[in-house]
Amino acid sequence: MNKVLILYASSTGNTEMMTEAMVSYLESQRYYVVMKSFEFDSINIEELLNYDLVLIGTHSADDGEIPFEAEHFYDELNDINLKDRLIGVFGSGESFYDVFCESIEIMGDRLEYLGARLVPTRLKVELEPDEKDRLRCEAFVKEACEMIEETVGT
Ligand SMILES: Cc1cc2nc3c(=O)[nH]c(=O)nc-3n(C[C@H](O)[C@H](O)[C@H](O)COP(=O)(O)O)c2cc1C
Repeated sequence: MNKVLILYASSTGNTEMMTEAMVSYLESQRYYVVMKSFEFDSINIEELLNYDLVLIGTHSADDGEIPFEAEHFYDELNDINLKDRLIGVFGSGESFYDVFCESIEIMGDRLEYLGARLVPTRLKVELEPDEKDRLRCEAFVKEACEMIEETVGT
């Protein structure tokens, strides 16, 4: 069974709702899923290496920076070998701000720089996900899962 780890930072619950939509879809497809909050759960950086797919969700605050609760994790990414690890990034922001969902770009760029194989879509949602956004969450996860299948098939 393929294993998926979803890590998220969410201050008002919007990114968390995206995470929940992804977990429901993955579980319906019989993936083994672990969901962890940067704020409330302990995350050992090495555990990323135990999963076939890692999805990282962050809200954007303070000029689109990485949320403070995910900063330590972001710094620790340097300590593991992410070469060819399959990772997707997503989150909620608000287009009212100059840099919409910038934390997702910062996280995605860093992971790519460190050699991870990034899911091409970096999923950004305006504030609270609506029904259409939930479908976008599912499509994002499907895209990622197809990449797992490709890896297994090689
Ligand atoms: C102080 C503050 C700064 C913010 N800065 C940004 C920003 O730079 N870019 C952006 O896209 N959204 C920004 N936002 C909007 C949040 O990212 C948005 O409300 C998002 O839906 C929060 O997601 P969450 O509920 O998962 O925490 C900001 C919100 C606050 C309160």
